Amino acid sequence: MSGILEGKRILVTGVLMESSIAFHVAKLAQEQGAEVILTAWPRPTLTERIAKKLPKPVKVIELDVTNDEHLARLEQLVRDELGGLDGVVHSIGFAPQDALGGNFLNTPFESVATAMHVSAFSLKSLTMACKPLFPAEGAAVVGLTFDAQFAWPQYDWMGPAKAALEATSRYLARDLGKENIRCNLVSAGPLGSMAAKSIPGFGELADTWNHRSMLEWDMSDPEPAGRGVVALLSDWFPKTTGEIVHVDGGLHAMGA
Ligand SMILES: NC(=O)c1ccc[n+]([C@@H]2O[C@H](COP(=O)([O-])OP(=O)(O)OC[C@H]3O[C@@H](n4cnc5c(N)ncnc54)[C@H](O)[C@@H]3O)[C@@H](O)[C@H]2O)c1
Repeated sequence: MSGILEGKRILVTGVLMESSIAFHVAKLAQEQGAEVILTAWPRPTLTERIAKKLPKPVKVIELDVTNDEHLARLEQLVRDELGGLDGVVHSIGFAPQDALGGNFLNTPFESVATAMHVSAFSLKSLTMACKPLFPAEGAAVVGLTFDAQFAWPQYDWMGPAKAALEATSRYLARDLGKENIRCNLVSAGPLGSMAAKSIPGFGELADTWNHRSMLEWDMSDPEPAGRGVVALLSDWFPKTTGEIVHVDGGLHAMGA
């Protein structure tokens, strides 16, 4: 039986460790028949080491998503390797320490600006850097959010950054729909990745899922989020764009 990404060429950002959601996206995408290329920041050599655990070998390209030179050279590097792209995965988030962990009222704008640049504006930058590689039939862009409808404990300025990411995704969907480029997000429940561990008190936030999630939630298993991303990259969501699919055990729909 052929996979749901058979023949597709997919760029995956954000593989840092095996715990990265992006690692599971890349693994599942390969298992589903895709050709995958990775981008990495800040240590491509570390990503290369982790990538050895994927089912098939992959090329790793250095990409700081806030660096215009890196973004400008991406097209040629990907073209040389895969010829073009049918899908892009944005799995990138960062906020300086003083923008997290209960310091919301005192965070300086420079730190907020960094969080916004890396975590939200970059969805636009990455998509536009990859756009020349998309075929006339269109492509799929998928990003990762943490439900920005709510104020969470400890999450602080990552909250507004995720709200900006979610809005950016809708505006990209609006402007690129006529070229059949879909832009969607997976809103994942808490997972024990590096990004999560860097948020002081994240364990406390995540504990909510032990009490309120409709489905049993396993913080150490990024595969469900990865499956959501792969589904949105596939041809099985052909008329879905500007959407946010929750892979959070149903917690977003719980009232009390
Ligand atoms: N872990 C969770 O609980 C959770 C929940 C919902 C959404 N998410 C989101 O999923 C995405 C992936 O996070 P993760 O949990 O897999 O953690 P992770 O730490 O494994 O991945 C975050 C990635 O962002 C990359 N990154 C940071 N700054 C960058 C830059 N300037 N240029 C390029 N890449 C940069 C890092 O290299 C890393 O690979 C993020 O958007 C995160 O906010 C995570």
